[in-house]
Formats: sequence, structure tokens, C-alpha cells
Amino acid sequence: MKQARGILSLLALASLAAIALGSNAIDEFDYLSVQEICSLLPWETSFLRPTTCDNWVTCPANGSSLEQGACATGLFYNKQLGRCNVAASVRCPYTGVEVGAPANLCANETEGSFVQDPSSSNCRGYILCQGHTQIHANCPSELIFNPTSRSCVYNNQYTCPQSQKTHTSPACRALPNNTRLAHTEHCERYYECINDILHTRECEPQKAYDVNRGYCVDIDLVSCYATAALPEPENTYCLNRTAGYHADDQSCSHYYICGKPVNGKYDTEPQHLSCALGQYFDIEKLSCRDRLNVRCLLDRCVGNNMSYVNVVDDCQKYARCSGGVTAGTGRCPENYYFDERSQGCTPINYNYIACSPRIV
Ligand SMILES: *[C@@H]1O[C@H](CO)[C@@H](O)[C@H](O)[C@H]1NC(C)=O
Ligand SMILES: *[C@@H]1O[C@H](CO)[C@@H](O)[C@H](O)[C@H]1NC(C)=O
Ligand SMILES: *[C@@H]1O[C@H](CO)[C@@H](O)[C@H](O)[C@H]1NC(C)=O
Ligand SMILES: *[C@@H]1O[C@H](CO)[C@@H](O)[C@H](O)[C@H]1NC(C)=O
Ligand SMILES: *[C@@H]1O[C@H](CO)[C@@H](O)[C@H](O)[C@H]1NC(C)=O
Repeated sequence: MKQARGILSLLALASLAAIALGSNAIDEFDYLSVQEICSLLPWETSFLRPTTCDNWVTCPANGSSLEQGACATGLFYNKQLGRCNVAASVRCPYTGVEVGAPANLCANETEGSFVQDPSSSNCRGYILCQGHTQIHANCPSELIFNPTSRSCVYNNQYTCPQSQKTHTSPACRALPNNTRLAHTEHCERYYECINDILHTRECEPQKAYDVNRGYCVDIDLVSCYATAALPEPENTYCLNRTAGYHADDQSCSHYYICGKPVNGKYDTEPQHLSCALGQYFDIEKLSCRDRLNVRCLLDRCVGNNMSYVNVVDDCQKYARCSGGVTAGTGRCPENYYFDERSQGCTPINYNYIACSPRIV
């Protein structure tokens, strides 16, 4: 199924183009509004307004509002210093070949064709030619654009060349060195501009990137970018547990198998298994056995629909079940013993392991 989706038909891509446009905001940076740009940046970040040399923007902080301005005549904005300087002393990233009117890559293309977007720093971007105009779009998540087949493919089907990956990012052109940007899909990831190249970063485990503060914080405290999802919580069952079989501490009939640690990291995908109805997991025998032959300290009303059950450590006692939990307990008359099988008190003591006192 995954493979079948590998090469999306060009038709499907065309209809996706409009939606995909916003999904990788980083490559569309020059086309974003200043509000959209600030939504990706930490509070109070100042930057050069894209496609200009002398307009600056300062993103809002807690409570304050976005501010923008233009340098006085003859001055350019120095994004690194955060102030306006004599134009001759400032290298404007939007002057020169890349700025103004870049070659129209659709000039010689037929209607509806797809071409590589050379400004894409991660190979996800492509250009859709419509009426000889260029429409920037991105392949859906997990896919990259293969310029040969002119389609989005899985990244094991095409290798994004290093020269394109280290391409100066459109986002970094406007931002001071070391500025961080939120990732729009994954809250545990973010980007960082270093020397105008965009690097993807990942927070440590249990942390995620706080879009306002601009660094990784504990997952409980994080404010994610609006569309960035938190990672699935990790299964920590096998943390500080040995590899092998373990009784479930929530249910007598369930058990876990922890795999051996991999690269020093405990198994985060343990198997969680269940014994057949009427059986409990016996950690000593590593078996599923008749529940009456297993001493389990958890509620024996759970996971069955018996009305009365035996109780651990006292074979004369019984518990009354209601809605699958213990609702009360009782005791057989003297010299009578409770028998879960017959649901009553009998003069015979079967000495079920389930109710016998622990033999030390
Ligand atoms: C944001 O403002 C609130 C209320 O004024 C304040 O309690 C909080 O500390 C501020 N946070 C930051 C990061 O400045
Ligand atoms: C389109 O074709 C013309 C004439 O052959 C050529 O000069 C131009 O460079 C081509 N443009 C692109 C983007 O290939
Ligand atoms: C950008 O930041 C990096 C890492 O902090 C530093 O090594 C580099 O020299 C900086 N580049 C410029 C142009 O300041
Ligand atoms: C796991 O063991 C380590 C080292 O013995 C200990 O520091 C840590 O608190 C334990 N974690 C849990 C969740 O028990
Ligand atoms: C509960 O009892 C009914 C009939 O008495 C039986 O069909 C069903 O399988 C039982 N369910 C469980 C969980 O024991």
C-alpha cells in the first residue's frame, strides 16, 4: 500500500498543490506575510523583511505587538547587528542574480508540467507550471521531488543531492545567524539558520520546541507551533526492567515481554499479551494457567463475569463482583470454604493456590 502511493500521479499532485503550499512554510518564506513569519519565530526576533534591503520587522513579545519599519534613505538593514547602516557597508541578500525576477522556469514548459524548485533546501519543493507562471508547491510529508521522473517519491527512491541540501535557504536570507524557526509538522523538531544554511534539529527525548521561547522545554510546558504535533508518548514499561517476561501490574491475565536493550536504550515497544479467558499469567511457571492455580494480588473480579470469586490468602473468604470489580467481601461459615467453580461454600477445602496463604 505504501509503495503504491510512492509515485503520486501528476493529476493528484495538481490538486494537492493548493493545500501543500502552506505545509512547508520554510520554502515559501519569501511569500509569507510578516505575521506568518513571526508565527514561526521566537518572541522579539528581528529580521530583514524578505525581498527588501531596508525594511525590518520585530516580532511581538508576550503582549506587545509586531513592529516594522524602514531604514532612512541611503541605509540598508543589517540583520546581524539589528540596525540600519550605510548601504555600501551592508550585504543585502536580495540584491544580485537571485533577486528581482529570477528566470521563469516555466517559460519553455507545457501547461501543467512539474519542474524542480532550485530554491528548495530539502528537495520537497517543486514548481507547477500554469499558463507559463510558476506556482511553488511542496511534496506531501515524507516525499521528495525527483526531477527525473518529475514526481514526488519516497526518499529511498531518490537521493536529495548534498548540493541542494546545503543550498542557502530562503528563510535564512532574511534571518540573523543562529535564528531558530518552528517546524510546522513536528513539535519535537525545529530549524536553525547557520551561515544562511537551514539545519533541522531535534529536541532531546521528552522535550519539544517551544515556538515562543525558541528552545526545547519539557513536553508538559511546551507551546507548539499551531500545526505541529507532539510525538507519541514513549512506552516506558521496560525502563529499569530486565529483558524477558513480566506480570502486568494492572491485570492478572496480561503480561509483558521486554526485548533486550538496543544501543543502551530500553525496549520502547514491549509486547503486551493476554492469557485466554479464565487463565492468569504465572510468573514463576512463565505460563498461562487456570486462574485458580495462580496467586495474583490484583482484583480477581476483573476480566470475567463471575458473581463471586476467591480471595487471595484466605480460602474461606470470597468477594462479590459487580461490573467487573469487587463490590464487597464475605466469609463462608466455619469449616466451609469458598469454591469459585461452584460459586458457593463447600465443606471441602480444595486449597486453590489462588486463595492459599503464601508458602514461604
Ligand atoms: C508573559 O506575561 C505574563 C503576564 O504579564 C507573565 O506572567 C509572563 O512571565 C510573561 N512571560 C514571558 C516569557 O515574558
Ligand atoms: C527557454 O528557451 C529559450 C530559447 O530557446 C532560452 O533562451 C531560455 O534560456 C529557455 N529558458 C529556460 C528556463 O530554459
Ligand atoms: C554564525 O554562527 C555560527 C555558529 O554560532 C558561527 O560559527 C559563524 O561564525 C556565524 N557566522 C557569521 C557570519 O557570523
Ligand atoms: C531507573 O533507574 C535509575 C538508576 O537506577 C534511576 O535513577 C531512575 O530514577 C529509575 N527510573 C524509574 C522511572 O524508576
Ligand atoms: C459472560 O457470560 C456470558 C454468558 O453467561 C458469556 O457468553 C460471556 O462470554 C461471558 N463473558 C466473560 C467476559 O466472561
